[in-house]
Formats: sequence, structure tokens, C-alpha cells
Amino acid sequence: MKGIILAGGSATRLYPVTLAVSKQMLPVYDKPMIYYPLSTLMMAGIKEVLIISTPVHIGAFEALLGDGSKLGMKFEYKIQEKPVGLADAFILGADFIGNDNVALILGDNMIYGSRIERVLKAASKLKEGGIIFGYQVADPTSYGVVEIDKKGKAISIEEKPAEPKSHLAVPGIYFYDNDVVKIAKTIKPSERGELEITDVNKAYMKKGKLQVIPLGSGYAWFDTGTPDRLGDASDFVKAIQLRQGVQIGCLEEIAYRNEWISKDALLEEAKKYKKTEYGKYLKKVADQDFKQYKEVFESELFN
Ligand code: TTP
Repeated sequence: MKGIILAGGSATRLYPVTLAVSKQMLPVYDKPMIYYPLSTLMMAGIKEVLIISTPVHIGAFEALLGDGSKLGMKFEYKIQEKPVGLADAFILGADFIGNDNVALILGDNMIYGSRIERVLKAASKLKEGGIIFGYQVADPTSYGVVEIDKKGKAISIEEKPAEPKSHLAVPGIYFYDNDVVKIAKTIKPSERGELEITDVNKAYMKKGKLQVIPLGSGYAWFDTGTPDRLGDASDFVKAIQLRQGVQIGCLEEIAYRNEWISKDALLEEAKKYKKTEYGKYLKKVADQDFKQYKEVFESELFN
């Protein structure tokens, strides 16, 4: 499976901060925002990632993330000339996707939870159809809202409904089979003039092929598109990191644990950041025997 990060858009809800700076470059506590969605794809086991951004900002992402080889990954970049909608990702990304399945994550979405890695890895094994998530929110009216049957199949999906049929908001991470490219090409712009991801989801739903994974209370999901939500996400990352001494969205750590980079490569990266907590943490990860914990979590006790 391949991955796409949509890191363009207009970010008007964050003006004036984003008048000259890309939203997905803004710090969420101690890292650029794009680290978090990238880390989510990495936790799903996805090694090949296409980063889509605006003509103005794409260069900054290339400067930040390079070709991915430092993480044992492969990154490609693509310009989206105008923010014509989320489903455009599959049209712009058609060549990159080729014959593979694909996961799309929005560059301003962050998901966290103790079992998230397991959930993402399961989603990335999708054989057919689409998999989205459902996150319980108190007020779903400003989100895509999905209603599900007892088996978790989507039975209705609506964009920002005035009278929501459920409390399950759809986070900005989606897994699809290769049909998504064809489907995206048939979608017409909505009333607000965008190629809507909800219309892609509806196409899968009509075929009975849209599986929803409800994320219970053990997960946190942030969409960092407004000053308050950006602040909430930063506070959350800070609270967990300082309290537990773990990092959220630490790319080198995930690459190392996925066995995509060696211990030496990890230590080399740690040196680069030696004046920061991030660097100290990387060194600590290299010195730990992480497989010890891995074995516990993979034991019968947790399965
Ligand atoms: P939104 O938050 O819906 O839009 P936006 O980022 O343009 O913000 P605002 O509403 O404040 O003007 O976009 C969700 C994510 O998808 C965000 O990371 C930007 C990205 N995006 C694109 O890359 N291309 C697009 O065409 C659209 C609509 C969004």
C-alpha cells in the first residue's frame, strides 16, 4: 500500500499566521505538523509516500523531508495548483499509486492512541473496498458524519449535516483499493466547488464496500485547522511527552522500530538533534531493547 499526504489547501481559518507560511509546517508543540500524519502512515507500515502541496509551499516540504532515504522510505512530491478538493489527491497521485492500494491522510490530522498502530496496520491490509474511521464527537455538525450497521458497514455518510444521523465524525485518514483512482475521476465538484472525499466514500458505500472502524474513547483525534484546535493538539502532545517521556510523531523512532533504519543510522540522526529533547530521546530509543516490549505486546496476553 502507498500513502498520500495532502498538505496544500488555503488555511484561511488560521490567517494571519498562514498568510505566508504553510499550515502543515506550523509547530504542534515541538515538531512540524506534517510529522504527525507522516508518522501515522509509517505506523501503518507504509514506506512510499506522495506529499502534495501548493506551488508556493512544496519546496519547503522537500527541504524538510527530502527523498525519505534517511527514514528508509521513499518520498515523492506533487504540486496541486489550486485547492480543488480532497478527492483530487487520487487524480494528482494516479501515476504514483499505479496498481497499488492507497491511504490518504490530511496534513493537518493527528491520531493518537495506545492501540492505534495495530488498527492502522490492520487497515493497511485491506484487500477490497474502503476503510474509514469513525470518531465519536459531541457536536458532529462541522464534520463528515457516518452512520454504521452492526458490522461496521457505512449506511449513510453526510458532509457537515445540520441534523446528524450519528455522532461519528470521519477523521482525515482513509484507506482504499485501487478503484479509488477511477472513482475520483468520475466525481463532479460539489456546490462549494470541491471534489469531495465524501463523494468517494459514498461511491464505495453504494457498493456495500465501505468499512468503518469506530475509534473508542482510548484515542485522540485532532484536526489542527483553527487556532484553538492547533493549541489543543500542542497541549496534548506536550502533556503526554512530558508525563510519559515518550515522543508522539517521532519519525526516526518509528522507522527504527519498523526496522527500516539501523541503530547506527538512528544514532547519526540523534547527533543532529543533540541540543534538543528530541535528540536525547532518539539516543534513548537506540539504547533501549525495544523488542523486549514488542514481545510482550505480541504475546497471547494481548491477542
Ligand atoms: P481544510 O482544512 O478543509 O482546508 P484548508 O486547509 O484550505 O483550510 P481553511 O478551511 O482554513 O481555508 O483541508 C484539510 C486538509 O487538506 C489540509 O491539510 C489542507 C488539505 N487540502 C489540500 O491539500 N488540497 C485541497 O484541495 C484541500 C481542499 C485541502
